Amino acid sequence: MKGVILAGGTGSRLNELTKITNKHLLPVYDKPMIYYPLEKLANAGIKEIVIVTGPEYSGHFVNLLGNGEEFKVNLTYRYQKEAGGIAQALGLTEKFVDGDNCAVILGDNIFEDSFEKPIKQFNSGAHIFIKEVEDPERFGVADFFEEKIGGIEEKPKNPKTNWAVTGCYLYDSTVFEVVKTLKPSRRGELEITDVNNYYVKKSLMTYTKLNGFWSDAGTIESLYRAATLVKNSKNELK
Ligand code: G1P
Repeated sequence: MKGVILAGGTGSRLNELTKITNKHLLPVYDKPMIYYPLEKLANAGIKEIVIVTGPEYSGHFVNLLGNGEEFKVNLTYRYQKEAGGIAQALGLTEKFVDGDNCAVILGDNIFEDSFEKPIKQFNSGAHIFIKEVEDPERFGVADFFEEKIGGIEEKPKNPKTNWAVTGCYLYDSTVFEVVKTLKPSRRGELEITDVNNYYVKKSLMTYTKLNGFWSDAGTIESLYRAATLVKNSKNELK
């Protein structure tokens, strides 16, 4: 299993905070944001990881993370020239993944749960991680049909459920063929939700309900929330 961290995008929702740096280098409590997804994959036993960054400040990632020794992984970098969406960024990693399965994680997602077990158990198709939230309209939202995922809607105005599709996905190598069939959405991006719905339609999608906290950190409010969740979890351990 290869690891893919998607850390592109302009971070425009963070206003002044991303004027002179990349969103994923901002602090979430006591660490740069990118440490969280990187440690998640490393702790799940993944050794080969690619980070896809945007064109600005990409050198700063190398300065911070180097070849990955500190995390006991091998790091590779790819560069996404345009803001073409999460699925487009994933498409850039095809050669790196090289026919293996891959665990894809968004660089601004902070998870408490470990992914070790689902990653070890994953064989083929696709697997998503869902979490019940109060503001599902901000996310991809899953609905169900007889306990299986029935469909996923990207940021629906009237969500059918409260189950957000979080930013961690497991795919087999067919994902790169799926990405090639995608058309840009209304926001002009290749959507990861369209990738996931391909697997839903083929009945190849499985899922895990997360127990621990989860937050994205791409807006001022969610960045603050993510830092608070991390801080509280550390206090609980004391
Ligand atoms: C992306 C995905 C969305 C997912 C979210 C998780 O949204 O498109 O389906 O629920 O990440 O953080 P974005 O925040 O990039 O708009």
